[in-house]
Amino acid sequence: MKTIFILSKQDIELSKQEVLALTKKKKHVLYDNLLITDTRFRNYKRLAYTKEIHRLLFITTKNQLEKDINNFKWKKIYKKNFCIRAHNFKNTENTERSLASLIWNNLSLPKAKLRNPSTEIIFNKINNRIIVSLKIEELKEKFESRKPHLRPELHPSSLHPRLARAMVNLTGIKKGTLLDPFCGSGGILIEAGMINLKPTGYDIDKIMLKRAEINLKHFKIKDCTLKLKDATKIKTKFNYIATDLPYSKNTRAKDLNILYKEFLKTLKQILKKKAVIGFPDFIDYKKLIKQAKLKAEEEFTYYLHKSLTKKIVIIRP
Ligand SMILES: C[S@@+](CC[C@H](N)C(=O)[O-])C[C@H]1O[C@@H](n2cnc3c(N)ncnc32)[C@H](O)[C@@H]1O
Repeated sequence: MKTIFILSKQDIELSKQEVLALTKKKKHVLYDNLLITDTRFRNYKRLAYTKEIHRLLFITTKNQLEKDINNFKWKKIYKKNFCIRAHNFKNTENTERSLASLIWNNLSLPKAKLRNPSTEIIFNKINNRIIVSLKIEELKEKFESRKPHLRPELHPSSLHPRLARAMVNLTGIKKGTLLDPFCGSGGILIEAGMINLKPTGYDIDKIMLKRAEINLKHFKIKDCTLKLKDATKIKTKFNYIATDLPYSKNTRAKDLNILYKEFLKTLKQILKKKAVIGFPDFIDYKKLIKQAKLKAEEEFTYYLHKSLTKKIVIIRP
C-alpha cells in the first residue's frame, strides 16, 4: 500500500527530506507537493512540514478515468458515508458531482456527507495525471502554541518550533538521545521531548540553561539532561545532533568562524550518525565543513527576516 504525504508548499525540498529521513525510503515519486512512497512508517504526527496523509488508490489519466473508477473496488474503502474532493480541475463543483455519481453507482445504498465524512476521496489533477487517494489523516500539530514568545522564558534567537521539529526529524532519529550542544532556551529540546525522544542540552551560559529548564518543565518534558558545557570541548559520542549555532550581528564574523571551526572539529570526533546544523548564511559554512572533513549531505535555505537567512545543513561524519 502506498502512502501519499501531502507536503507543505512553503519548502517542498525540506518537507520531502523530512519525510524521507524518517521513512528511510530512497524510492519515491514526487508530483508537485505529493510525495508517494511505500512505507511502514506510521508516526505521522511527528512531521512538521506534512499537511495530510493519504492512501494512494490509483493513478490515471483523463481518458482512462471513468474506466478506472468503474474497475476500482470502492466497497473495500467505503465506511458509513463519503465525499469527493477534486483539486486542480477547471470546474471543481461539476467535476466533484460527476465523480461522486460514478462512484455512487459502484456502491450499495451509499450516503453522501460533505462535512467530516468517514470516507474522503480526493482526485488531484497534476499535469496529465489524475492521482486518486483516500484521506487518512490531517496533521494539525499546534506548533504556533509553542512559539518563543508563548514560552515562560523568552529568547529572541529561538527558532520557530516547526523548523526546530523538522531539524530533529531530519536527523532520522526514531528513539533515544538527541543532543543540542548550543541549546539556548531549549527550542530544539522541547520539540525532541514532544515526540518522546531523550533531549540532552549543553550551553556555556548558566542563565540560558535555567531558561531551558523552565521551558522544558512548562511543556512537561521529563526525560531531559541539561549540562553547563562548552560545545567545543565535548568528548562523549552521540548518534544524533541538531543545533542552531550561535550568531549575533554584534559578534564579528571572524570570531564566529573560530567558534564554528572549533565546534566542527569536535563534531567530527563525536558524531556517529547524522547532525543537522543551522548556520547564518553570511558564513562560508561549506568551507568550514570541508575543512573539518565532514560531509554535507543536503542543505536548505530558511529565510528568517530581512537581515538573517539560515542555512540548514545535514551533516554526516
Ligand atoms: C542561537 S542560541 C540557540 C537557540 C536555541 N535553539 C533556542 O531555542 O533557544 C545559541 C546558544 O549557544 C550558546 N553558546 C555560545 N557559545 C557556546 C559554546 N562554546 N558552547 C556551548 N554553548 C555556547 C549561547 O549561550 C546561546 O544560548
